[in-house]
Amino acid sequence: MSRPADLPLHQHLIDRIHRHGPLPFSAVMETALYDTEHGFFGSGQGSAGRRRGDFITSPEVGPLFGAVLGRALDSWWDELGRPDPFVVVDAGAGVGTLAVSVLAATPRCAPALHYVLVERSPALRERHGDHLPLAPPASSLGVPGAGDGPVVVSLAEMPATSFTGVVVANELLDNVPVDLLVRTGDAWGEMRVGMDEAEEAMVGHVVPASDPARVAADRFAPGAPDGATIPWQHRAGEWVRDALDRIDAGRLVVIDYGVDRTTELADRPMGEWLRTYRGHDRAGDPLADLGTADITVEVCIDQLAAAGQPVSVRYQHEFLGAHGIDVLVAEGQRIWQERAHLGDLTAIRGRSRVAEAEALLDRSGLGGFRVVEWTRV
Ligand SMILES: C[S@@+](CC[C@H](N)C(=O)[O-])C[C@H]1O[C@@H](n2cnc3c(N)ncnc32)[C@H](O)[C@@H]1O
Repeated sequence: MSRPADLPLHQHLIDRIHRHGPLPFSAVMETALYDTEHGFFGSGQGSAGRRRGDFITSPEVGPLFGAVLGRALDSWWDELGRPDPFVVVDAGAGVGTLAVSVLAATPRCAPALHYVLVERSPALRERHGDHLPLAPPASSLGVPGAGDGPVVVSLAEMPATSFTGVVVANELLDNVPVDLLVRTGDAWGEMRVGMDEAEEAMVGHVVPASDPARVAADRFAPGAPDGATIPWQHRAGEWVRDALDRIDAGRLVVIDYGVDRTTELADRPMGEWLRTYRGHDRAGDPLADLGTADITVEVCIDQLAAAGQPVSVRYQHEFLGAHGIDVLVAEGQRIWQERAHLGDLTAIRGRSRVAEAEALLDRSGLGGFRVVEWTRV
């Protein structure tokens, strides 16, 4: 873990280390990703078409993912008794690609739909208006029974008051800053970020873990071997708790790559589950070139479940299957057969559903992501 202080974020963090001593890893990850001037997402460098090795996020694969989500939204709207407004929060919306494809799919719930993109990066939020007809923030929660949907709103944070509807977060929680806990003998330490002896580069320093960190580590990784490191995802847990608090009736749906139990990560080297990406490739040391790479951590579902017990945990291929991806692919094939001779956009979109489905259902890639759902009634 090293890097000379030649980038603005490095200088800023080194100044903070000199003032406060070694920083929690979550503070460094927060700055590296969300600093509004130089952070990877905050400045808008990391955005659409985000790739991890060989695959991109599901909404960026093409419009099929949003079309399946549209069918899921209709089924949840029916379950709730077709409320109007029906609020759908797209949390960590990025540039808004998922919103575009959900709306293009014209779900049945559209007349009641208040689609709220929530994106903390001002630079990415600025791009929502490029391809979406945005209404003022005040209309996010709507007027009961107005039937004025679809209404699309872009916000920096979750709506302040609770609502009936759905919160969906695709690949958000893997980017929520974590702290790192290290098993040292029969105790737990916390990996902080300080300076090396020459005071030139940032390196990891292990300090005794705080009481809450130790309690969490004993709870989620009992029996971890000496030297094992785990992520403590308390901020992701708080995000889940906060999202559930906003929902009067409805559902929280988190889609991400992750593991059922934190202990699974304790058994693997940290570099496998704490990863960096730049320009579609793995980027190496998370403390190098801060702000120029995506920093992402596999989500520990047991830590999220501590914030509220999910009603369902399944793979993305199962979730998409349950919400009719096969029906949409068959429809696409039929459209292609009928219109292939025209070779128009509708025909080509129909045909591309086959390739999109392959990517979305691939069990060694996006199809192997986890879909975690909580309900509120
Ligand atoms: C990997 S991108 C995913 C974008 C999009 N959901 C997709 O699947 O293509 C994660 C996004 O979540 C945003 N984000 C992270 N934490 C957030 C929070 N607490 N509230 C809103 N947005 C957040 C980041 O700025 C980034 O744009």
